[in-house]
Amino acid sequence: MANPHFGKISDVWKHAALGEVLEREPPAWYAETHAGSGAYAVVHDPEREFGILRFLEVAPRFAALAQSRYRAVAASYVKGGRGLYPGSALLAMTVLGNASSYLLCDLDPESITDLRRWSRELGLRSCEVVETDGMAAVAARLDGEGHGPGLVHIDPFDPDDRAPGGYSALELAARVADSGTRLVYWYGYDEPGEQAWAHRKLATLTRAPLWCGDVLVTGASNAPGDLGHATTPGTGFGVILANLQADTAGACAALGNALSDAYADAVLPGGCPGNLAFTSSTSGSGNGR
Ligand SMILES: C[S@@+](CC[C@H](N)C(=O)[O-])C[C@H]1O[C@@H](n2cnc3c(N)ncnc32)[C@H](O)[C@@H]1O
Repeated sequence: MANPHFGKISDVWKHAALGEVLEREPPAWYAETHAGSGAYAVVHDPEREFGILRFLEVAPRFAALAQSRYRAVAASYVKGGRGLYPGSALLAMTVLGNASSYLLCDLDPESITDLRRWSRELGLRSCEVVETDGMAAVAARLDGEGHGPGLVHIDPFDPDDRAPGGYSALELAARVADSGTRLVYWYGYDEPGEQAWAHRKLATLTRAPLWCGDVLVTGASNAPGDLGHATTPGTGFGVILANLQADTAGACAALGNALSDAYADAVLPGGCPGNLAFTSSTSGSGNGR
């Protein structure tokens, strides 16, 4: 499978913030560079027990999480015998339905087939699913798009990866931000010193105001982490927003703080106690649109 990370705590934060953005500022078109599959069969391993399964268990006790659209959508797919975790594209398709058109890109044929199946199942009228480099396809869409406000979601595991002569994920993010199009950008890291690294980097590439919500996994260990392998102390992940309203960023900050509270003194997937340290930061000439 092209996405072994589905349903981990990093997905929970990314998808909680994305769901909030989609709910509060529904775009006329939604484009995703690294869409992944529509849904994934939930496995009961330590990463998902800590990630989506613990989230659904504790969310009802924390108002911001309980009321979030993400919790409602995730619960509707995970529970009730379905046992599926919705990826970001299916989250968007479920929240927006036919109020939006879609451009969903991935290089993995299995993910493409699954996305097309979900598009049919949800009866979407305008959903283009393309097996191609997402940066090139979304850049081309930005050049041609003129149909109301859109949102681009960029979710690269390797931020430096690029097709020959093409954009890296961060370069495309800067182009999206500069164009006035709404942006949701995910990043990860393996050491505490890298907290909010992508925000600092993107702020050097665009003049658009940015908001960043960062989650650092903390715990007793000082060993370097490896986010691609496991959710361990010192690993972290975050979401950067551009061209969204300050209220939307504020709602995402409330979600991040609630997530941190909901995971206070939790047992990390590796078996040791740990916490999720949430911080938010802004850059540019204003805070939100
Ligand atoms: C982490 S998964 C995406 C998860 C999804 N965005 C979500 O949040 O549920 C990353 C996906 O990127 C795809 N991918 C990697 N390089 C790509 C590229 N250059 N263009 C499009 N897709 C790419 C992989 O096949 C994989 O399915």
